[in-house]
Order: sequence, then structure tokens, then C-alpha cells
Amino acid sequence: MGPIVRPQVLADTDAVRAILTDAFADEGHVATLAEALLDGPSRVALVAEAGDEVAGHVQLSRSWLDAPRRLVDVLVLSPLGVAPRHQGTGLGAQLVRAALKAAATMKTPLVFLEGDPGFYGRLGFERADKLGFTSPSVRIPEAAFQVAPMAGWKRWMTGALVYSDVFWTHDAVGLRSTD
Ligand SMILES: CC(C)(COP(=O)(O)OP(=O)(O)OC[C@H]1O[C@@H](n2cnc3c(N)ncnc32)[C@H](O)[C@@H]1OP(=O)(O)O)[C@@H](O)C(=O)NCCC(=O)NCCS
Repeated sequence: MGPIVRPQVLADTDAVRAILTDAFADEGHVATLAEALLDGPSRVALVAEAGDEVAGHVQLSRSWLDAPRRLVDVLVLSPLGVAPRHQGTGLGAQLVRAALKAAATMKTPLVFLEGDPGFYGRLGFERADKLGFTSPSVRIPEAAFQVAPMAGWKRWMTGALVYSDVFWTHDAVGLRSTD
């Protein structure tokens, strides 16, 4: 049977922690972020199964766009991780497509993320600064700040992305200098 993508359930907790810790090789920092999001602003949490095992995870959580008229609810796609032994088999792309489909169902106008344009550019994302959005941190490389405009996006919805506090309390915005 081919890979399937389905909503994450409680029984997936340990598998998702292991996937994210292995994928990011970070001793659990991103896994802890993912769990904190689930306890708060998470709106969509999906896993990909390959064979008998859970092999990938993606999450969408609520953040805001500080637009001139008002704060607009938007979604942030983070984290996305695929277990190293399953990378390169299409699971990552499948998880992103499923997340965007869920975002469309929720009538979200915009989905933001930080990531490699080489990967996300083929999946509906483009440079957010080129569309006039302001990055939430000077520590995010310009090309990495990306957005997928959805059907409900109106041109007045411009301004700065404001991450939910979970990203800040976990210091999970942008890249830190190693100096
Ligand atoms: C990034 C990640 C989620 C991709 O998942 P995946 O299942 O390996 O991706 P897919 O198999 O769907 O797609 C693989 C394709 O994307 C490309 N790709 C993967 N990671 C890439 C990256 N960082 N930059 C550019 N291209 C990338 C591969 O070269 C491959 O291209 P091909 O189809 O032309 O051969 C996975 O590599 C991962 O978990 N990485 C570690 C954690 C991470 O960086 N997460 C994303 C943070 S923004």
C-alpha cells in the first residue's frame, strides 16, 4: 500500500517526537515546539504513514497578519519533518499538499512558513516579501520567508506576519547566529 496522510492522534505522540528529533537532529527542540503548538494554536496536525509506521509530520497553527484594517487570522506551516530513512520518497511533498488542502477547507487567506524555496516553491509557496509582506524577524533569510496565497486572500490583507507566542517562547523564529 502507498503512503497515506491522516490526522495525528494521541497514539502518534512518541512516533512524531522521534521523527522530528531525527529529522532536525536537534535533541528534541522542534518536537517540543510541535507538542506546545498542539496544546495551543494548532489547527491541523497530520502524519504520513509508510508501510506500518508513522514516517512524517506536519502542522498548521494560527498566527496573525497585522494588516492596516485589522488583525487577520492566518496559518503557519511548521514544523514539517520526515524520518531520515523515508526522505526523498515524496512524503514531505504529500504532507505539504495535504496541509494546503486543509487550509483551503478552513478558508484561510494565507499560509506562511520559513523554509527552502527549492522545496516549497514547487508546492504553491512564493517569496512573501515580493508580495509586500513584512517578515516577523530580521533573522529570517529573505528568500526563506514564504507564503501561499489562498482563494480568500484580498489585496488589503498586507502587513507583517505576527507569530503566535509559542514560536517565541520556544525561540523557534528565524536563525540564530553561531558567533
Ligand atoms: C524537507 C523534508 C521535509 C522533505 O521531505 P521529503 O519527504 O524528503 O521530501 P519529498 O520526498 O517529498 O521531496 C523530495 C524532493 O525535495 C527536494 N528537497 C528536499 N529537501 C530539500 C531542501 N531542503 N531544499 C531543496 N530541495 C529539497 C529533494 O531533492 C527532492 O527533489 P526531487 O524530487 O527532485 O528528487 C525532509 O527532508 C526533512 O524532514 N528534512 C529535515 C527537516 C526539515 O528541514 N524540515 C523542513 C524545515 S522548513
